[in-house]
Amino acid sequence: MKRTSYCGELSKKDAGKSVTLCGWIHSRRDHGGVLFCDLRDRTGLVQIVFKPENKEVFQAASTLGGEYVVQVSGRVTERPAGTQNKNIATGEIELEVDPAGLVILNASKPPPFEISEYSEAGEDVRLRYRYLDLRRPTLQKNMRMRHDISQSFRQQLSKEGFLEIETPFLTKSTPEGARDFLVPARLSPGAFYALPQSPQLFKQILMVGGYDKYFQIVRCFRDEDLRADRQPEFTQVDLEMSFVDEKDVMGVVERSVGEAFRVATGQSFPGPVPHMTYDEAMNRYGTDAPDTRYGMELVDFSAIAKTCGFQVFAKAVEAGGTVRGIRVEKGAAFSRKELDELTQWVNTLGAKGLAWMKWTAGGADSPIAKFFKPAELEAIRSAAQAKEGDLTLFVADEAALAFKVLGLLRRRLAESLKRIPAGKWNFLWVENFPSFEWDADAERWNAVHHPFTAPYPEHWTIIRSGKELDKVRARAYDLVLNGVEIGGGSIRIHETKNQELIFDLLKIPKETARMQFGFLLEALEYGAPPHGGFALGLDRFVALLSGETSIRDVIAFPKTQKGVDLLSSAPSPVSDIQLRELGIKLSS
Ligand code: AMO
Ligand code: AMP
Repeated sequence: MKRTSYCGELSKKDAGKSVTLCGWIHSRRDHGGVLFCDLRDRTGLVQIVFKPENKEVFQAASTLGGEYVVQVSGRVTERPAGTQNKNIATGEIELEVDPAGLVILNASKPPPFEISEYSEAGEDVRLRYRYLDLRRPTLQKNMRMRHDISQSFRQQLSKEGFLEIETPFLTKSTPEGARDFLVPARLSPGAFYALPQSPQLFKQILMVGGYDKYFQIVRCFRDEDLRADRQPEFTQVDLEMSFVDEKDVMGVVERSVGEAFRVATGQSFPGPVPHMTYDEAMNRYGTDAPDTRYGMELVDFSAIAKTCGFQVFAKAVEAGGTVRGIRVEKGAAFSRKELDELTQWVNTLGAKGLAWMKWTAGGADSPIAKFFKPAELEAIRSAAQAKEGDLTLFVADEAALAFKVLGLLRRRLAESLKRIPAGKWNFLWVENFPSFEWDADAERWNAVHHPFTAPYPEHWTIIRSGKELDKVRARAYDLVLNGVEIGGGSIRIHETKNQELIFDLLKIPKETARMQFGFLLEALEYGAPPHGGFALGLDRFVALLSGETSIRDVIAFPKTQKGVDLLSSAPSPVSDIQLRELGIKLSS
């Protein structure tokens, strides 16, 4: 090793010691003939001092630029009174560099942005020079937290008897609902591998293989539209267990997530995690991943709206829709302009409008108040539990849209009005999901979770009848943290005939099912044990625990919203020779 110590770990205790450090020149200041540099490594900064009386080293030091890589040897000294720096952990000491104590290991071009939290460089330039961005303390802290969390999962799951087993990346398509990334197979012209959207099929087969408890920290690939919490390749802590029911899987997840939470935050885990049904989550929060840290819950006004004189409301209910809203405490202070902006915003989400009522000393202040009888207004106020000074916002539409719009509106208002309490960690299990949802465009049912999820045993009769499939509930469960879905899983179908029945119902043709999942269907015929599992979105979990709003900040080499790696500039064209070898002709 070239070094004896790390920069950020030196303290007053080390005063008088001779040490050797390695790192990057973070900054350089010339103070009346004495040269001060901050030297940085992954532990932090320390001030190093070059005195002019050590001529040779002083001269060498005056050539140092930002991000030069050096090895320095010298003595740790306490800083003279009045020169301590409270802003850095090592601010009470400095390193006096020996007369021959500087080795310049490498020069650096001037970096395109400052390596600091305060750098104003945009994300594009930071991703383009990711190796420089990775030197920033925040990213270093995030990567360390990610390491600690991964290690914690490995240890906890191993302790509970899980085996870490790898599954293939060059494989067949797994139906998790996104598009597949395809890889042409040179040795089988015209055929393609699909990168797995998750190890779902293989982990089930490992259960058939008798491994009982499996886990893997694994990359998944999904070609979908990207957002701050979605990447085309992301990481799951994936697990599967045999001879279990929901509460066994949830137990393992709570223990391992709880331990990782403790390791990452130093706080005790706020468990046991409360449970909520899907229906309750939708009714109260308008989303299946509710943020329960604050109120502003949805209110159902349909019963009152049904017979009221405001046609927009009455007609919506008549058409089978709903009228729901939220009460914004002290929201009567909203200006007309603010309400118009909110209305425009909900329009972009597909809502036809946003009705509002301000509750004042004189009653309901609203352009639509005139359509309601006094008793109806009072019924609305009472249902919303509105007090003087509050505001009620309404959306009248089909239920799914009203839930979506109000769920997002609730979050937007909580954020802009700063109603989200700091320091709260609300974990929540959401369960009792519908198994299927109707896709009106394609005129077919889709699996809400994935097609391998078991329904409740008593619901097989509904499935066999083929009617009212929206009543079928899945043995599936999602884990939510502060309004973000951080993981999901289910008890699986473990009998071939039942699995085939589901494929039929989802109109997955027999040949397609045989071709795509035939290996799973066949495996189920050879003594498949009952089994179930879970997958945690590691990137999302780490992002939440480290306080980042984008998962890109907890991934060493993330892609942009457009799926581009700005560092390596992937994806990129390939040579004609490569295409020819693969038997591929581009149409444009
Ligand atoms: P699911 O599709 O719900 O389940 O994925 C599990 C978790 O993975 C995270 N996640 C993502 N994170 C970042 N970018 C993405 N594009 C992305 N997509 C999903 C989410 C999600 O909760 N095979 C099943 C699990 C099972 O049934 O055991 C599965 O993959 O946090
Ligand atoms: P209008 O009668 O279209 O002028 O609408 C009167 C008020 O009702 C306006 O504030 C609209 O934004 C609102 N509004 C219109 N349609 C809906 C709807 N479907 N849900 C809630 N509010 C609506």
